[in-house]
Amino acid sequence: MSSNNAYMNPALSPAERAADLLPHLTLAEKIGQMTQVEKNSIDPNDITQLSLGSILSGGGGCPEPNTAVSWRDMVQGFQKKALASRLGIPLLYGVDAVHGHSNVVGATIFPHNIGLGATHNPDLLRRIGRATALEMVATGIRWNFAPAVSIPQDIRWGRTYEGFGQDPKLVSELAVAYVQGLQGDDLTLETAVLPSVKHFVADGATVWGTSPRTARSALTGTETDAALSALASAHEAMMQQAVFSGAWQIDQGVANIDEATLRAVHLPPYLDAMAAGALNIMVSFSSWGGLKMHAQKYLLTDVLKGEYGFSGFLVSDWEAVQQIDPDLGESVIATVNAGLDMVMVPYHYHDYIAVLTNAVETGKVPLSRIDDAVSRILMVKFALGLFERPFTETPVSIVGCAQHRALAAEAVQQSAVLLKNEQNVLPLRKELPRLLVAGAAADDIGYQCGGWTISWMGSPGRTTDGSTILEGVRDCVGAETAVCYSADGRFDESAEVGLVVIAEEPYAEGMGDRADLCLTAEQQALINRVRPQVDKLVVILLSGRPLIVTEPLANWDVFIAAWLPGSEGAALAPLLFGEQPFTGKLSFFWPRSMADIPLNQEAEPLWPIGYGLTTAEVQNA
Ligand code: BGC
Ligand code: BGC
Repeated sequence: MSSNNAYMNPALSPAERAADLLPHLTLAEKIGQMTQVEKNSIDPNDITQLSLGSILSGGGGCPEPNTAVSWRDMVQGFQKKALASRLGIPLLYGVDAVHGHSNVVGATIFPHNIGLGATHNPDLLRRIGRATALEMVATGIRWNFAPAVSIPQDIRWGRTYEGFGQDPKLVSELAVAYVQGLQGDDLTLETAVLPSVKHFVADGATVWGTSPRTARSALTGTETDAALSALASAHEAMMQQAVFSGAWQIDQGVANIDEATLRAVHLPPYLDAMAAGALNIMVSFSSWGGLKMHAQKYLLTDVLKGEYGFSGFLVSDWEAVQQIDPDLGESVIATVNAGLDMVMVPYHYHDYIAVLTNAVETGKVPLSRIDDAVSRILMVKFALGLFERPFTETPVSIVGCAQHRALAAEAVQQSAVLLKNEQNVLPLRKELPRLLVAGAAADDIGYQCGGWTISWMGSPGRTTDGSTILEGVRDCVGAETAVCYSADGRFDESAEVGLVVIAEEPYAEGMGDRADLCLTAEQQALINRVRPQVDKLVVILLSGRPLIVTEPLANWDVFIAAWLPGSEGAALAPLLFGEQPFTGKLSFFWPRSMADIPLNQEAEPLWPIGYGLTTAEVQNA
């Protein structure tokens, strides 16, 4: 491209540059910019030929081998293809780095948002956003499909853990800090990452039983099977079971709330993130007011872009456009006219391009709408300095570096919530002669990390680098202490203290929808095997949401909600032994029984938002 063009002048504003560049694009190039393709579905030459605007990795969309270096080579390879196009417009590559750069083996995995919510610490969130951005840009990626600002009302929802909490003010505060962290001080630097605030809007307000996926696939549908076939066998069997026991019941469903509630509860985090400079928002799969969000012209165009002046661009969710109508053309017309700017197609992009082209040529989508969408996308690309710096210079050695792991450990320690500490059993003495540790999850990075880790669903096992709770305990105890570990909790010996780690199986999205949140028979059996062997029982729960523990709790001396702490599980141990105080406080109501779900402000919770014991407090009590 010629450097004489005004759009190549970085002294002009991103909007001025976009306005100058727009008339140079043909209709095909404009539509190309509005196209986002999943990386395994792309013919790389099409990036050049069609001037494609964006590529993404979905959950688990990893290169082979899955190393930071091959991620960078892959992304930079795609970028070269974009720069070779007629106008050389750089690509935006997007990824779900929702708790660290979590598709990449060896990256630092931070606690999922539900845990970060329990820290109530915006400064920590800002630092995590920055660290995540640096690990992303080291692999050439400048766009993160995060933060989710969902405010989950029904914790049976499989995406509960993606939300910071149920207090809208807290959600806003943490989302803003995280957005600032991702963006850094100067968006044009190659170390800045574009946030995608999601899923617009009220994704956390959907009603159990309204998920369209269940209705369409009736448990045996091709879609569910396709998603399942991507999963590893043992875990797959478990997930198949999940489908039969309630998966896809609420995710992507209908938000049955009035507009005042939508505006008062669910909208503010978007407005606050926008005020912090967020230039991208992802539209929700869910529905409101009888319409899918993706077809909601009122909310997307009138409210967000009009009333609140959102100047960035809107991206659709994964194949969500296709949910509008069986006819692809109708779907594309409805969503683009509603205000959608970029379509996460993600697979059959030739079909999408053909129908959108036809819709413009036949006047069903006005050219002015296309020009608006493309201007927004180009403006963001200029704002990110992509034309000046399309490639990364951040060394890949920053991925999973010691400094970031130390930050993750700090987050783990601030996120754990001590909910019961009968007779100050904690902190434990370091010179205990023997300590029993039980539960497969006590020694398993995959359980600690949960979904959206290496694969979409996540999976048990040593899926990436990190440390386990058991390793942390072994590091903490004195030389005299024998740490006896049994995954299934079968011990011959008894001890003063036993530690049992129970966990939810890793899951993501609607695969984690669960009708019943009581402890499973296996979890109960594990605890029951250990209980008679010890005087004091410490239970640690790894989960994406509060579970119903009201009855079994009576038999436990200590109960800790550690959420999904991520790769640095060993960091929990110093809390147990009093090297660090417990400071985490609930960001969700902890229900007494299933009858208190969905969130019912009238019901008395087992523990309210803000609850959490501190070891220091307990010692003084
Ligand atoms: C999820 C989004 C995610 C996207 C890309 C969708 O299924 O709902 O949260 O960003 O996939 O992986
Ligand atoms: C992708 C996810 C996506 C999901 C939606 C998966 O295959 O990896 O990123 O959210 O499909 O169905």
